[in-house]
Amino acid sequence: MMTGRSPFREDLLAGRAALVTGGGQGIGRATALALLEAGASVLIAEIDQEAGQEAAAELSAAGDVAFQPCDVTRQADVQAALEAALGRWGRLDILVNNVGIARGGPVTALTLDDFNHVLAANLTSIYLFAHHAAEALGRDGRGAMVNIASTRALMSEPHTEAYSACKGGVVALTHSLAVSLGPAVRVNCISPGWIETAQWKKSAAQRPIDHSDADRSQHPVGRVGEPMDIARMAVYLASDAAGFITGQNFIIDGGMTRKMIYV
Ligand SMILES: NC(=O)c1ccc[n+]([C@@H]2O[C@H](COP(=O)([O-])OP(=O)(O)OC[C@H]3O[C@@H](n4cnc5c(N)ncnc54)[C@H](O)[C@@H]3O)[C@@H](O)[C@H]2O)c1
Repeated sequence: MMTGRSPFREDLLAGRAALVTGGGQGIGRATALALLEAGASVLIAEIDQEAGQEAAAELSAAGDVAFQPCDVTRQADVQAALEAALGRWGRLDILVNNVGIARGGPVTALTLDDFNHVLAANLTSIYLFAHHAAEALGRDGRGAMVNIASTRALMSEPHTEAYSACKGGVVALTHSLAVSLGPAVRVNCISPGWIETAQWKKSAAQRPIDHSDADRSQHPVGRVGEPMDIARMAVYLASDAAGFITGQNFIIDGGMTRKMIYV
């Protein structure tokens, strides 16, 4: 696994407890690490037991971290994950709704079951966590929720209907929750562009990074994104330093959505 030192003070989130969904791999794993490096305690709520256990073992060098098996599409699992965090730390200050899955294929072949499953994992899960966690998050008047959307909320390739629809929903659910749960809880979302997660997978799934010159140069910043690019923003948004920011969507895509393309 790649590591990246956080640029934040290690007491930025001291005394705070955080829950990261899908924290076993990818952006979620980097976010769990960045939160730990900023001083928070972290519960990884993850469906893949191997990934969750491995992440918790590896990240324990950075701080107080625990793994809770959790399928975010199941209400009982969501409640159990929140109870695990509250049982361990007696508080929950930060919730990062990171899980996102894709099931592609032409809309004519996309089944209702597939569409609904993507919706359940990517969007309904955020409602479920908000429903069950809002009271705990707001208890000290400085809770923070960070939802992971996507630039696909704003633009598409063909055959991404379920995923894109969910991500648009995440952006809207974010501002709705921000208005409803404020001032006790701030709610923001991050829309990543292309983030290379190959080296943040569980060890059995890691693969070398293989980017072409075109992959890099199509980004105005000259490279593909890394999980820590997103994790750092999540830490900032979770902290009191972002106390005047709520209901917003932050695009982190190396400038791709600002680039005009004429063919
Ligand atoms: N990687 C990118 O390029 C990119 C771009 C835009 C948005 N995103 C978004 O960022 C988030 C993280 O993406 P990633 O690329 O790191 O994904 P990833 O596949 O590397 O990791 C996602 C993790 O979530 C877990 N997970 C999946 N379904 C789950 C469920 N039902 N319950 C609990 N855990 C579950 C997986 O086991 C995995 O460990 C997603 O919301 C994704 O849509 C990623």
